[in-house]
Amino acid sequence: MSRKLVVILDFGSQYTQLIARRIREAHVYCEILPCNAPLATIRAKAPAAVVLSGGPSSVYDTGAPTLDPAVLELGVPILGICYGMQILAHVGGGRVERSDHREYGPATMKVERAEGIFAHFEAGESLDVWMSHGDRIVEMPKGFVPIGRTDNSPLCAAANAEKKIFALQFHPEVAHTPRGREILDAFLFDVAGLSPDWTAISFVEESVAAVRAKVGTEHAILGLSGGVDSSVAAVLCSRALEDRLTCIFIDNGLLRLHEAEQVVAMFEGRFHLKLVHVDASERFLTGLRGVTDPEKKRKTIGRIFIEVFEEEAKKIEGASFLVQGTLYPDVIESVSFKGPSAVIKSHHNVGGLPERMNLKLCEPLRELFKDEVRAVGEALGMPRDVLYRHPFPGPGLAVRCLGEITKERLDILRRADAIFIEEIRNANLYEVIWQAFCVLLPVRTVGVMGDDRTYDEVLALRAVNSTDGMTADWSRIPHEVLARASSRIINEVRGINRVVYDISSKPPATIEWE
Ligand code: XMP
Repeated sequence: MSRKLVVILDFGSQYTQLIARRIREAHVYCEILPCNAPLATIRAKAPAAVVLSGGPSSVYDTGAPTLDPAVLELGVPILGICYGMQILAHVGGGRVERSDHREYGPATMKVERAEGIFAHFEAGESLDVWMSHGDRIVEMPKGFVPIGRTDNSPLCAAANAEKKIFALQFHPEVAHTPRGREILDAFLFDVAGLSPDWTAISFVEESVAAVRAKVGTEHAILGLSGGVDSSVAAVLCSRALEDRLTCIFIDNGLLRLHEAEQVVAMFEGRFHLKLVHVDASERFLTGLRGVTDPEKKRKTIGRIFIEVFEEEAKKIEGASFLVQGTLYPDVIESVSFKGPSAVIKSHHNVGGLPERMNLKLCEPLRELFKDEVRAVGEALGMPRDVLYRHPFPGPGLAVRCLGEITKERLDILRRADAIFIEEIRNANLYEVIWQAFCVLLPVRTVGVMGDDRTYDEVLALRAVNSTDGMTADWSRIPHEVLARASSRIINEVRGINRVVYDISSKPPATIEWE
């Protein structure tokens, strides 16, 4: 593919992904590589510009990540941010002074030279910027001039105009640097001469061609869950492969109300995908009989899923590719110079299936962040309610039906959940909330219904706000909305006589209850 890209060398900053997001928001494609990526790897990408991210280290730490000076000789514009600036100073013969305290928080920078990355500003103008660094730069290498200063840092921003190398002590990528967008735009468009042509539509065109080139005349299979990633991957690949793509949708009996019918109607009816719909609910429920331990539930569901998927996949003759909806954050995680994270996401893989069945992988979304996947889905004509659906765990309602899982209890939970979501949608809160759902508790309490005493189960409502699911706060849903949901659930769903609202944040709680 010939598109122009920016390479971001990651020195371990918590903001590296944010730099990538900001560059892509400017419709320029970029990729993150570990800071110790071999020069040949960087060269092979033919970057139009390189950004050096921040990082938590001091250049004087033992084992501190360093920069191959050959990167500076690639002849492309370079922007060093925070640690990226310090490493530029350190390897280029400048001077970095060790500091035992961090400068953290807001600062005001005065623009000294309105050129290069500051081309959108005027000399003398003051900008609010966000600092987060330890060591101080006291001297930049030869060829650099200061272009911005703060009271604390006379060398807050510096430039080597001839070599088009720029360096910032602050973070232009965070929201606390309100005009950071203009700095990044000036770097991408004015300095590096890039064009804003990376869009969802261009991505679809390129990917359809790439999938066709990769799969050739062979056949592919895909496990469709109804979630955003596998749905977008399915529609995208079907554009490329048409009936050489078969999607396998396994109904495990743990889906939400009418979900299976909706998935079939959407993908078979509307997008004309070749779909194998397997109703394996009996098999899953049988396997789950008597299982109450959360991890055992997950393992059981994972095991049966792989068995069923494999049986179905074997029936599809000539399939040599497996399409997966892997996203960029998973890819970055596995290439980080710190090594893959210890967190194992057991729900994402199909348990060694590609190796066992000798399938090659096709991962058309592996370059994208979640919101880009949604934009691609929109470009493919997919409806909002699929693209903006709340995340739903692989083990489905099994981890929301606490205690023993029975068809009756699942039906109660499904109906209550549908009411809660309907009330949230009616209040226009669905897209504000990260995830909302109900949890059925194996606890009975006493109630009164008319003249009768009831002794039914308790339902917990859970709704959280989050940006990535890693941390979350409980949603401040208006009391009237909670009241309507509670009263409707108790009146309309037999088997529940009490509704409570979960007001725990993550951490220390988790989003799901199991
Ligand atoms: P927790 O409960 O860990 O959830 O705060 C964070 C996010 O992950 C989802 N989740 C899962 N997704 N399989 C999945 O596919 C699982 O076993 C699983 N457990 C939790 C959860 O819904 C939330 O979005």
